[in-house]
Amino acid sequence: MLSLTEFAPPASRPDRLVEPAATKTYDAFGRHIHYLRVSLTDRCNLRCVYCMPEQMVFRPSEELLTDHELFKVLEVMSALGFDKYRLTGGEPTVRPGLVEIVRHIASLPNTREVAMTTNGLKLARLAQPLKAAGLQRVNISIDSLNPDKFRRITRWGDVRDVLAGIEAAERAGLTPIKLNAVVIRGFNEEDVVPLARLTLDHEWQFRFIEVMPFADVAEFQQASIVTTREMMTRIEAELGELQEENGGQLDGEAKVYRLPGARGTIGFISPVTAPFCASCNRVRLTADGTLRLCLLKDGELDLKTPLRRGASQDDLLDLIRAAIWRKPWGHDLAHGVIPMNRIMSEIGG
Ligand code: 5AD
Ligand code: SF4
Repeated sequence: MLSLTEFAPPASRPDRLVEPAATKTYDAFGRHIHYLRVSLTDRCNLRCVYCMPEQMVFRPSEELLTDHELFKVLEVMSALGFDKYRLTGGEPTVRPGLVEIVRHIASLPNTREVAMTTNGLKLARLAQPLKAAGLQRVNISIDSLNPDKFRRITRWGDVRDVLAGIEAAERAGLTPIKLNAVVIRGFNEEDVVPLARLTLDHEWQFRFIEVMPFADVAEFQQASIVTTREMMTRIEAELGELQEENGGQLDGEAKVYRLPGARGTIGFISPVTAPFCASCNRVRLTADGTLRLCLLKDGELDLKTPLRRGASQDDLLDLIRAAIWRKPWGHDLAHGVIPMNRIMSEIGG
């Protein structure tokens, strides 16, 4: 009889794949879709005038995906080759279990980037644990540096809390820091100058966003829009010529410039006057479990119902792949088509 030791093992067996090799997911226009924006809640600790009504009614929590349901969807997205995630809200930091959710996403196969968009109010306490869990960067919204104007826009926010949040994020290494301002006529169109000035001394990217129209708030939003062109004119009149960065290529959705001698950069996000749909690489998961294929179109795939009826990972994968294939080319704001079934805080921006 041969002793077991005489059998040589086969040459250099490769490790068994724990997960299937990464696939790529495309839509029917050939866009590679690999970026998921995950809205963790529709709730917020502010009530920005351009985002939600003061008496906003939030969804009951049983309508939201549980952590367990969320992880099931995320695992399918990962298997579809998604490698970039951004946590959004409402305000993502009001979701219980946020740190564990970040840890889970960071540990998914294929994950390259995990970021979050936040109003910054809770970052002083959360920046460090989030970084330790695998969060890489944050975008923080700050629409004005003037405490009175900031309160008027957010209805009750204190800008000092946001500044403390920015500092905490920087200290925790959630960098490079990006700051966002939505510019609203009659509220902060003059603030683009002091906000842009921040980039002279800080290595931040300050991004100015044209307000987009959604459902109940659409009339106000459309009446209040300040175009990128106007913002640029205001900034250049006070601070000098904006020099194009990246050879004019978009950085994500922003076109990026630099003021003379500035350490940081200035981005403009112009969904209304210069749509960037052609380079779209994303879909969105809403907190109540639908996959939204375009921010500004109402088409959605309900995932919560199949999840709660016990759908398998394979069933979900087929549903999601088929839905992404049907992702619309772009929005139709120019033809007056406005998303009607949800406002921004229910989609996550
Ligand atoms: N249009 C453009 N940006 C918006 N935001 C919220 N509502 C709107 C809107 N209607 C921004 C927030 C934040 C990000 C989540 O989206 O200010 O920066
Ligand atoms: Fe909250 Fe952001 Fe909406 Fe303001 S814009 S109310 S911070 S979700």
